[in-house]
Amino acid sequence: MGRRLVVVLFLDLVGWTRLAERVDPEPLQVLLERYYEICCARVEEHGGVVEKFIGDAIMAVFGTSVSQEDDALRALRTAFQIRADVGALRTPGGAPVEVHCGIAAGEALVTHSARAGIRVVGDVVNLAARLQSAATAGEVVVNDVVAHLARRHIIMQPLAPLQLKGKAEPVPAYLATDQAAMPDRTGDGPRLVNRDAERAHLRGAFDRVARERRSHAVAVLGPPGIGKTRLVRSIMDDLVAAGGTALTAVGTCPSYGANGSYLALVEVMDALIRQSASGRELAWADSHIAAVLSGLRDASRSRQGAATPGPGVEEISRATRELLAVAGATGPLVVVWDALEWAGPSLLRLVGELIDGLPDLPLLTVCVGRPEMTERDTAWVRALVGRDVVNVGALTTDDSAVLAASLATAVDDPNDVRAHDVDLVDQVTLYCAGNPLFIQLMLESVVPGQPVADTPPTITAMVGAMLDRMPEPARHLVGVASVVGPTFTLDDLALLAGPVPSADVDSLVERQIIRPTGEDGGFRFVQQPVHEVAYGRLEKEQRYAWHRRLAEQNIGPAFHFEAAARLLTDLRPDDAELPALSHQAAKALLREGTAALRQRDVPAAIELLRRAVTMVPDGQDKCRSVAAIRLSDALMLAGDSEGAVAAVADAVRRATDERGRLPCLIQQELLAVRLGRTDGVGVESLAVRLGADAADRLSWCRLEQLRMLLHLRSGFFGAAESAAAVALTHARAIGDAYEEDRLLAALCEVQQWSPTPVADKLAGCVELVKRFADDRFVQVPVLAAQARCLALLGDVSGAHDALAAARVAAEQLRLTMGRVVIDQASGVVHALAGAHAEAAGHYRAAADALERAGHAPAALTLRAQAVRELARLRPTGEVVADLAALWERRAEMDVRGQIACMSAAVRLADVGGTPLAAEEVLLMLDNTDDPCLRAEVQFDLAQRHRRMGDHAAAEAMANAAVDSYASVGATQPLQAVRSWM
Ligand SMILES: Nc1ncnc2c1ncn2[C@@H]1O[C@H](COP(=O)(O)OP(=O)(O)OP(=O)(O)O)[C@@H](O)[C@H]1O
Ligand SMILES: [Mg+2]
Repeated sequence: MGRRLVVVLFLDLVGWTRLAERVDPEPLQVLLERYYEICCARVEEHGGVVEKFIGDAIMAVFGTSVSQEDDALRALRTAFQIRADVGALRTPGGAPVEVHCGIAAGEALVTHSARAGIRVVGDVVNLAARLQSAATAGEVVVNDVVAHLARRHIIMQPLAPLQLKGKAEPVPAYLATDQAAMPDRTGDGPRLVNRDAERAHLRGAFDRVARERRSHAVAVLGPPGIGKTRLVRSIMDDLVAAGGTALTAVGTCPSYGANGSYLALVEVMDALIRQSASGRELAWADSHIAAVLSGLRDASRSRQGAATPGPGVEEISRATRELLAVAGATGPLVVVWDALEWAGPSLLRLVGELIDGLPDLPLLTVCVGRPEMTERDTAWVRALVGRDVVNVGALTTDDSAVLAASLATAVDDPNDVRAHDVDLVDQVTLYCAGNPLFIQLMLESVVPGQPVADTPPTITAMVGAMLDRMPEPARHLVGVASVVGPTFTLDDLALLAGPVPSADVDSLVERQIIRPTGEDGGFRFVQQPVHEVAYGRLEKEQRYAWHRRLAEQNIGPAFHFEAAARLLTDLRPDDAELPALSHQAAKALLREGTAALRQRDVPAAIELLRRAVTMVPDGQDKCRSVAAIRLSDALMLAGDSEGAVAAVADAVRRATDERGRLPCLIQQELLAVRLGRTDGVGVESLAVRLGADAADRLSWCRLEQLRMLLHLRSGFFGAAESAAAVALTHARAIGDAYEEDRLLAALCEVQQWSPTPVADKLAGCVELVKRFADDRFVQVPVLAAQARCLALLGDVSGAHDALAAARVAAEQLRLTMGRVVIDQASGVVHALAGAHAEAAGHYRAAADALERAGHAPAALTLRAQAVRELARLRPTGEVVADLAALWERRAEMDVRGQIACMSAAVRLADVGGTPLAAEEVLLMLDNTDDPCLRAEVQFDLAQRHRRMGDHAAAEAMANAAVDSYASVGATQPLQAVRSWM
């Protein structure tokens, strides 16, 4: 029977022990028998089962084999009636007898065996018993779930949270009064949203009936809560508001109760008599009709079951026909039979007779029900659905959002966050997939300030009841599908449950439980709550087995291995298979998390990698380290540097051996360097610890990345490039595509400034552009680097083409940093072509963007480059002032920035800039191995020397510049220096 939401009722006589001491057991036994009788009768009447008697206490459960959406209400009504009935009993001494009662709703495991009958196991049972002990004489005390489920019907008074035996936390409790709360959920609902087409259909049917004076019937079908009743009532309201001669009557079939079979009919007859004078006259004048009416009313009121038989079906049928005929003589009629899925066979037969038997009456019959209504063995229902049906489906997303927003803002309390919470409206809209009742229930259960988390018990109750009313094969299928996930294929289902009969699938589609996704054999749950509740009702052993089978077939391995491991942890934490299963889950999560990281889906990567870290079992240090390192990469991308540091520190703490610890220590150092918290002194000692462990390629790979970073920091790009190249070899050796991609991108960036020949760099760029053809995010910096190489080789138009392609990608993908890189490269390309003003403009644009993004030091370097370009034009006072401001901040810049500042100062020295000795600049050049940067400054110095009249020094410097450019084959600037000479 599985896990389900049940309602447990405990009830006990007050003062029984004291009474037993004073009174003879024989009269006491008589009293007890009567009390048992009352309890059993009331519980059964309301659809519950008595699980056991313990002395004078009884335990009853609602929702064990079939859930009803109103199980909580049923339990409450049972308690009230037992209290009233028992109140009429007397003790042998003549004193009144009183009961106290506790009711709790919650999840429980329900089992059934021939020997033990129904067994309910779960905390909810203990809770109900404790609530009962807390109730004083005559009180019915309930838990918060019952209070929530029944609050629309019964007024609940909150009690101070109860400190209950065996419960660590105080338990919220409510006193159920017997005052009725707002009874009808359709009454004061929110403004009707949309449904224009459905309304037009029904309105058209009514107009035809009125015009042609012929009877017609329409079926209105749809899943629970979709708005069938609301739709039909809106039409009736319109007719009443229009003030015509139409008479309207609604009969709603109650969901349970032995006396309910004709209740809807009584409602319809009463409505007709109320509105039609001739109907009233007939009911008074015709004694048979009067007898039918009073007989049906008595039967529906009586609790005890009638002693004499009620009116015969023929009399009932005739009386109804006569009444309809006289009422219809004055104007058109609309008769609505609502909730026909609950109708008993006699009412169903009668409705069919009325539809077929009064063809010339201007009567519109509207038969409203859930899809299961069509499964009743009733020919007329099937014929009707074939003839004229309004299928009420989900609201569109926009309409759902309108409804959710109007419900959220209808909250009285202006401080209530629901009223202002746009995210909440979105979440609820998404979750409830167009079901207005779910939207309403969801919003009611949201606690202000807290995210939408669990399915509210009201929805669990509704959906559980709906599932229980489905035929077994279809219900089974829903359970199987729920394990696969919100979407599934028939193949997935077949894997778990064998071939799936298409009739079962069709029936689920008809009930609007699932719908095809468009992909071959693919389906999805229409409503998330249905998926969740169906899943929650499966036993954990079953879920575990199915998740595992799916994972082993490589269907969503990360999700299914993880789910299986969690379930096994709950079921058998000592199971010998658990560590291996958790390891598989961790590995699969790591794979998916890394894939997300490669796609730069940072939030997804963070989530998956966190889960991977949690899943790793003891003894699998390596797996945990890799997951923690990737997690820290993802957190850095998200700007959460503290989170990144913490993730690695945690892995270091949990590592049990050097193999697991070292990669994390390396990553820790790497992060510290990137965050400017250390200058990387620890790197060589880490290398020593790593020793000759050639197999630990990943650690080596990261260690080389650390070295690369340190060389970059100090301006030695050749060394940085070598380190990156070694790291790349390690990444390739272990087939780690994630590290490989990262390193290729890094290598391309480092090479821009390294002493590698320009032609080789260009070849590398061309290869990478191809490799990343489908990932333009990575391609943009490569194109920028390519443009720079082409410009250095004198191919200006090729450089501009590469920049244009990069710009298109950056615009289309909205890459802020991509634009910075492009501006930076454009600066270089323009500078090489002698367009210094344009070059300065690009550098400034890049600097502005970097500053906005919070990268102040990098922005300063670009500003220095902009000033240097301007200094190469005719220098102005403004440029001199700009440089002076930058000069003050030299210490904040990296090596390239400092050198750019100096080279600008050299240029501006003649016009009153900062006085600077050439020697000082040359000394600074020792801090970098970037040949182009060195050559630029050397050329600047050469020009200065010539301006100062020192031709020998000028020539020496120019020769040095030529050598520098020649060493990397930068033909274009080389040419420029040569022609100056
Ligand atoms: N189009 C709508 N606009 C606004 N509220 C709606 C709309 N449709 C339904 N509702 C609200 O949603 C709730 C459920 O609607 P209703 O009771 O009509 O569902 P139902 O299909 O009759 O369900 P059931 O099968 O349980 O009888 C009601 O509170 C109703 O007011
Ligand atoms: Mg309804």
